[in-house]
Amino acid sequence: MDIEQAKKEAGIAAVQFVESGMHVGLGTGSTVKHTVIEIGRAIQEDGLEVIGVPTSIETENLAIEHGVPLSNLTELGGLDLVIDGADEFDPEFNLIKGGGAALLREKIVAQASNRMIVVADDRKRVERLGAFPLPIEITPFEWEDTLKRISLICGVPANLRVIESNGPESPLITDNGNMIVDAGVGDAFIDNPALIESQLLHLAGVVEVGLFIDMCDTVVLAGQTGVEILHRSDE
Ligand code: 5RP
Repeated sequence: MDIEQAKKEAGIAAVQFVESGMHVGLGTGSTVKHTVIEIGRAIQEDGLEVIGVPTSIETENLAIEHGVPLSNLTELGGLDLVIDGADEFDPEFNLIKGGGAALLREKIVAQASNRMIVVADDRKRVERLGAFPLPIEITPFEWEDTLKRISLICGVPANLRVIESNGPESPLITDNGNMIVDAGVGDAFIDNPALIESQLLHLAGVVEVGLFIDMCDTVVLAGQTGVEILHRSDE
């Protein structure tokens, strides 16, 4: 199975958890985009009735394009579930997210959801987090100083994310007007995700950290042998 096919299968399979009447958080990325498209199809063709809350402007546009009605947390109060992608998940279903720079909105939506379902291909499954550099959303004000402190806390180099096609001096700006720092250079450096998350969140200038701890309970995983539904062992 190629990666694109795996993403599509995982994204579509996750719609089995969506029932009429639900309020559903809609994640961001190339895997969950298939979930959004499938929800749109089920609304048009099968009479599914759901309201979505998007986690990025990109997902908002995709949902509108596919006829998924949208609202927000203020109006809905809370969500039945959120379906989202991940960059890594470990055996406890702790996640690294933010490869698509949407981690702040994704975490706000996830914390308002009764349940978090991750859609992923099997490259995302790891024993220890951190080979995928940890995304951290920071304020533009004095970002160099914040980046230096992040690197000290993490014990690994950290880099400002840039939009390569715009040149090396063009920082990526998030939907919230902030920047992204990626900590790490390919080694699984995160021994204690909760500790590193709390240390980073104590740093002024850090808006949010792309570690999602104790949030995900189910992973819809696609690989060579098809789609597997994994449940967190303490659930
Ligand atoms: C965006 C995210 C994505 O969900 C994550 O990067 C996975 O994306 P993809 O499904 O494209 O691999 O966290 O901020």
